[in-house]
Amino acid sequence: MAATILDGKGLAQRIRTGLATEAAALVAGGVQPGLAVVLVGQDPASQVYVRSKTRACAEVGFRAFDYHLDAATTEADLLDLVARLNADAAVDGILVQLPLPPGIDSRRILLAIDPAKDVDGFHPDNLGRLLMGEPRFVPCTPFGIMKLIAEAGTQLAGAHAVVIGRSNIVGKPVAVLLTAADATVTLCHSKTRDLPAIIRSADVVVAAIGRAEFVRGAWINDGATVIDVGMNRSPAGKLVGDVEFSAAAARAGAITPVPGGVGPMTIAMLLANTLESTRRRARR
Ligand code: GUN
Repeated sequence: MAATILDGKGLAQRIRTGLATEAAALVAGGVQPGLAVVLVGQDPASQVYVRSKTRACAEVGFRAFDYHLDAATTEADLLDLVARLNADAAVDGILVQLPLPPGIDSRRILLAIDPAKDVDGFHPDNLGRLLMGEPRFVPCTPFGIMKLIAEAGTQLAGAHAVVIGRSNIVGKPVAVLLTAADATVTLCHSKTRDLPAIIRSADVVVAAIGRAEFVRGAWINDGATVIDVGMNRSPAGKLVGDVEFSAAAARAGAITPVPGGVGPMTIAMLLANTLESTRRRARR
């Protein structure tokens, strides 16, 4: 049976249309959502992501405050900018694109962002709330992944969900969200023994390792829901995910493509978090 291809691009577009309507209503009431996007240095992938984020803001009627800083920017300069954005009433969300250049301690920067404006959900205060089941902002990629799993119609209660990759940005928070949704979660990483056997018993696979086609199609359980967070260049220069797509799609029940799966959802959920922050501002 051929898998359902989970169209993240289409779902993200529908979400954005809804957000644009809500943003227009807020603007009519005199409050415009505002997102500050901070990029330090010239990392090519980060430049692409940041451009997509600011363009998406314009499309839904948000203000984007764009900061492109030199690679030689010091930690003190960046902390200064974050302090100004924290104090700026027109800024509802602050996103500092990671990774930061060597010489800047990203933990210090993330700690400096006002948790009420931390639309990435990376501040320890927000990650702690997420862990306790009382999120203020759900990190964007994990949030998008949960929407895609819901779109697939996958029942999570009692399901075995296997997450591969334990980053603070994706693996760990998505494991928390899947647990909160009553899945039984196995969080795998580079030291995990016999990964193929674990994946073979998975009803849901979330691959967030950052290695091209690392998860082989033959490891996928019949009918499993497969979420591919990867964005890698194959040796031939093609954009590929962390999952061997064609072989996995032949076995899976539903699978996300790369590109057009998780990526667009991350941006949609960033906008959703920013709008939520604006609504809170409007209520104050
Ligand atoms: N780098 C890779 N993904 C992300 C993200 O979602 N947010 C930020 N700030 N940086 C990233």
